[in-house]
Amino acid sequence: MSHSQVASPDQFTEAELLSQLDAHLLPQHVAIIMDGNGRWAALRGLPRIEGHRQGLTALREVLDTCHEVGIPNLTIYAFSHENWNRPAAEVSMLMHLLDDYLTQERQGFQDRQIRFLPIGRLEKLPTSVQRLVQEVADETQHFTDRVLTVALSYGGRAEIVDAVKTLVKDIQLGALSEDQIDENLFEQYLSTHGLPDPDLLIRTSGESRISNFLPWQIAYTELYFTKILWPDFRRHETLAALLDYQNRERRFGRVTQADSPQSGL
Ligand code: FPP
Repeated sequence: MSHSQVASPDQFTEAELLSQLDAHLLPQHVAIIMDGNGRWAALRGLPRIEGHRQGLTALREVLDTCHEVGIPNLTIYAFSHENWNRPAAEVSMLMHLLDDYLTQERQGFQDRQIRFLPIGRLEKLPTSVQRLVQEVADETQHFTDRVLTVALSYGGRAEIVDAVKTLVKDIQLGALSEDQIDENLFEQYLSTHGLPDPDLLIRTSGESRISNFLPWQIAYTELYFTKILWPDFRRHETLAALLDYQNRERRFGRVTQADSPQSGL
């Protein structure tokens, strides 16, 4: 079926969407920018934190759906470097929400064998949250089949700069020589080392930006932008995004038989 013939996912029930998914064509890594919590709350005359609370419920549903269909790696943008500029009360409530989430999910990570991998400038988090984040990361680090990477106080450019600094140190120490540096080696210096690059990036709320999220890792990632606000992005919307992904042709710069020899992006 060509892309233009694909019916709108809105026309299908969840069961129908699920039945159309091809297990062999699923993304192995989905990255998500969960945007629109504040607008969701404002539309209902609710405080912003209520949007974040509902956003957490959406997150649980999306993670369950991804695991149910067999996607092993998920990376979520929970708190960006720039989010520190929000009003102190909102930042504090987001930190409480993170604390509650980890406290509640801790046992679930064990039971479902999920590795919780925090990335970002974790030292900027409040000490008690830092401690909990580290504990949950430590106690799940041996799980390899499912990885939930959570970007906290994260900025992609800062991640690249940190990688360069460590790499330069290794050269100065004599542990590495310049001619060993290539893309594969550089990848090992990133906080996501060892994970496959995301196949699919989802951003909700109608914004079509990357916002400094995984700039190195998403070089060939398929982008999926939707107007739906994050608290409304649930199982149905997840399945629709996965189906949309499956109907794309990924070429990684190569050409297919149908292409002219000049094309290739
Ligand atoms: C963007 O919405 C969302 C965030 C800055 C935080 C995302 C957090 C959650 C989904 C819940 C907490 C998650 C964890 C893991 C604790 P926005 O506030 O920018 O929305 P707006 O653009 O409509 O104002």
